[in-house]
Amino acid sequence: MNNPRKSLADLRSQRWFGPEDLRSFGHRSRALQMGYEREDFMGKPIVAIINTWSDLQPCHQHFPARVEHVKRGIWQAGGFPVELPALSLSESFTKPSTMLYRNLLAMETEELLRQHPIDGAILMGGCDKTTPATVMGAISMDLPFIFMPAGPMMRGHFGGTILGSGSDVWKYWAEKEAGTITNQQWNDMEAGIARSAGTCMTMGTASTMTIITEALGLTLPGATSIPASDAAHPRMAGACGRRIVEMIWEDLKPSDILDQRSVENALVVHNALAGSTNAMIHLVAMAARAGIPLDLKEFDEVAGRVPVIANIRPSGAWLMEDFHIAGGTRALMKRLEGLLHLDARTVAGVSLGEGIADAIVHNDDVIRPLDQPIAASGGTAILYGNLAPHGCVIKPPAAEPRLLQHTGPALVFDHYDEMSSAVNDPDLDATADTVLVLRNAGPIGGPGMPEWGMLPLPKKLLQQGVRDMVRISDARMSGTSYGACILHVSPEAAIGGPLAAVRTGDLVTIDVAARSIHLHVSDEDIAARLATWKAPRPDYPRGYNRLFAQHVGQAHEGCDFDFLEGAGGIPEPEIH
Ligand code: FES
Repeated sequence: MNNPRKSLADLRSQRWFGPEDLRSFGHRSRALQMGYEREDFMGKPIVAIINTWSDLQPCHQHFPARVEHVKRGIWQAGGFPVELPALSLSESFTKPSTMLYRNLLAMETEELLRQHPIDGAILMGGCDKTTPATVMGAISMDLPFIFMPAGPMMRGHFGGTILGSGSDVWKYWAEKEAGTITNQQWNDMEAGIARSAGTCMTMGTASTMTIITEALGLTLPGATSIPASDAAHPRMAGACGRRIVEMIWEDLKPSDILDQRSVENALVVHNALAGSTNAMIHLVAMAARAGIPLDLKEFDEVAGRVPVIANIRPSGAWLMEDFHIAGGTRALMKRLEGLLHLDARTVAGVSLGEGIADAIVHNDDVIRPLDQPIAASGGTAILYGNLAPHGCVIKPPAAEPRLLQHTGPALVFDHYDEMSSAVNDPDLDATADTVLVLRNAGPIGGPGMPEWGMLPLPKKLLQQGVRDMVRISDARMSGTSYGACILHVSPEAAIGGPLAAVRTGDLVTIDVAARSIHLHVSDEDIAARLATWKAPRPDYPRGYNRLFAQHVGQAHEGCDFDFLEGAGGIPEPEIH
């Protein structure tokens, strides 16, 4: 432990358990009611374990066991562990989109910590939104915490072929639609693509976000590449439990750790991973909770100088298990050390540089040397223009290079259902040059900005061998998706952004090198079209959706609720 800065009397939980009064009698007697002895909880820091497990969260199905490993570490270090279940936000089962509920989990995390006698927390998450959500809430609460990642699942297998989460689903679905694989092969793939607990094992949103969180300094060094079913994973869970107790005595809070340096480290690592485009929303929101403004232009600036060195699908060839064996997240950051702020702080109590000092790359193809990258720059690019005044996003390494500079006629869909039936129409008026446009799929239009941005290709073009086209939307796309997909168009169509003015047949040009997106319609005509535009959906009359629609920000702002940004400022609960 570094210098202890807190004494027992300083602990937040002492407000509940310490005083000799009627209220504290109640708290102690109810702890005894749960079968604990006084020495179990008296005089100890109380550690919340925010657990995003549920029976409908396959990526976190190992969490019931891992909670016990975390608790073991907390007991060992002299703390008192308490498990607090939170929304599990399964990417697979939550509809219409987990993004609709990211802010709800963030609120839940913050308020679970505030309302209870908690001195510090372990955040157990990993499946896409559970990482930014729990971290956002805990940053705002500003108690010591460690994020404990679920870890990636094992590699997928099908007929001797290695499968990657998500990416191979889209790939083989295209083959099925083209008639090149059988139903039996499709069924075999369904049974072989997700073989264990853990998060998607491609560089999708889950691994992107957990690794970025490590780059921010909010996990133990090396935690984020350990596969869920590796014996190192429960050992890491125990280490989280031991370390959080030390952090509480050290009073090492997120506000002591996060600063401009940590955010810049996250940007560098994101680009070296060719990480998910979703990170561009989540990192903006996470940084804003810490009071650190982050403009999308900074993603682009970093993308221009950081090579993609993680050779992991969908942009590369390998999977997360291979990445871990090759040295994992510490080795990746060791390779990037000349580009990182090594003096940035971490939850481990050491600097980022100290945490990676002895890391070694064991496979130069999986984690490439800086001078042999899979792309010299540009894991992501931000485009601006009259179609996206506040920006939109593309992942160039995941697109066919011929489409990175392209002009074609728009084919516009107002709703996902309309698009899904049209793409199967053999008479659809589309060629490989057509620019597919989907709108009303943004934060408010979706609602919740669903991952519809990898628009399906028209069946007749698939049968002709076409495997990529330019697609534009105000939606997001899965981090495991790929293609020339332009996403997060801001402002979105549902609030009258220029995307609402596009008509089928309008020419659209994208030029990734020039960072531009242009609708070949005059400003006057765009304004005239928008003057007669009507919002496509009625307001939500009540409930969480109403709160969401009234307060969610646009994609370039991180999609947080306006009343949640920042940290602190809320009084401690009264205890009477
Ligand atoms: Fe949970 Fe991909 S579905 S991480």
